[in-house]
Amino acid sequence: MNILITGATGFVGVPLCKALDAKGHRLLVVSRSPEKVSEQLGMPVKAQDDPMAFKDEPIDAIINLAGASIAGRPWTDSRKKTLIDSRVETTRALERLCQAMSTPPKVLVSGSAMGYYGAQGEREVTEETPPNPEFAHELCQKWEDAARRIEALGVRTAIIRIGLVLERDGGTLKPMLPVYKLGLGATLGSGTQYMPWIHRTDLIRIIEFLLAHDTLEGPFNAGAPNPVTNRVFTKSLAHALHRPAPWRIPGFALKAAMGEMSRLLLTGARMKPARLEAAGFEFRYPELDGAFSAIVNGR
Ligand SMILES: NC(=O)c1ccc[n+]([C@@H]2O[C@H](COP(=O)([O-])OP(=O)(O)OC[C@H]3O[C@@H](n4cnc5c(N)ncnc54)[C@H](OP(=O)(O)O)[C@@H]3O)[C@@H](O)[C@H]2O)c1
Repeated sequence: MNILITGATGFVGVPLCKALDAKGHRLLVVSRSPEKVSEQLGMPVKAQDDPMAFKDEPIDAIINLAGASIAGRPWTDSRKKTLIDSRVETTRALERLCQAMSTPPKVLVSGSAMGYYGAQGEREVTEETPPNPEFAHELCQKWEDAARRIEALGVRTAIIRIGLVLERDGGTLKPMLPVYKLGLGATLGSGTQYMPWIHRTDLIRIIEFLLAHDTLEGPFNAGAPNPVTNRVFTKSLAHALHRPAPWRIPGFALKAAMGEMSRLLLTGARMKPARLEAAGFEFRYPELDGAFSAIVNGR
């Protein structure tokens, strides 16, 4: 397939591009720094900063992952605007591309996150669960709405509500690993908040699965079938590293230090991949202990 990708240079995008390239797909990349993309991916690819530059190329599929980092900086009003605009404007540019093409792509796989559901306490969360209105939900809803406009053009659209992506070279784990290796791992707040997680390899396999299955559309929870609480996550990572993690950081301290962004650490959703499992997707890493063991041992 000819596949156009946004967010190709990120923590998920780079190994995704390598996996797609290895399967013989041709990649077209949209990046804010197109001149750096081939080097970042370690292979020659066509890259542009405006998707419209690809209007005369044959494109079978689009994967849309671009967006400013949600955990990077405090959620001031201007940061919130950047988080929304970096996703919605990128997706709008893809919509304009699809409108301009004589043959639009067959499929779009577009990003979203577990934040779509907001804080959900202990209940199980499937794609049917109503969201809790808060900033994370607003961000994901706007991103999904922008993707739905492409769906309205007749493009099969699958939206992935991504859990915490786990691998050692980025995302949540990269800054945690050195801390845990020093025996400084800590439960956050009450530790009862759920952390839906996914091994990066499984996320890449989910994206490939959704590209390949012509009948799959709508939202898909892209988290492993066994989400865990923060307390279990902390214990499991410490155990994989053969270190203790006896500490606890009180919720009020995280709130004082991080403001509203502390909700990323102190609240969560027990998100289950109900629609992926119903579609027959099989997770390579369904259990957190197995995922951490593979990550820590570099398998
Ligand atoms: N990693 C996770 O745990 C996780 C969990 C849930 C959801 N997600 C979502 O999944 C997507 C991919 O995740 P990731 O971890 O691979 O993200 P990432 O490493 O932060 O990469 C995202 C990509 O988005 C582009 N980007 C960054 N800032 C941007 C901006 N201000 N405007 C437009 N584009 C911008 C960058 O591409 P260029 O520099 O090439 O333009 C970057 O490579 C993200 O949208 C993320 O929010 C990730």
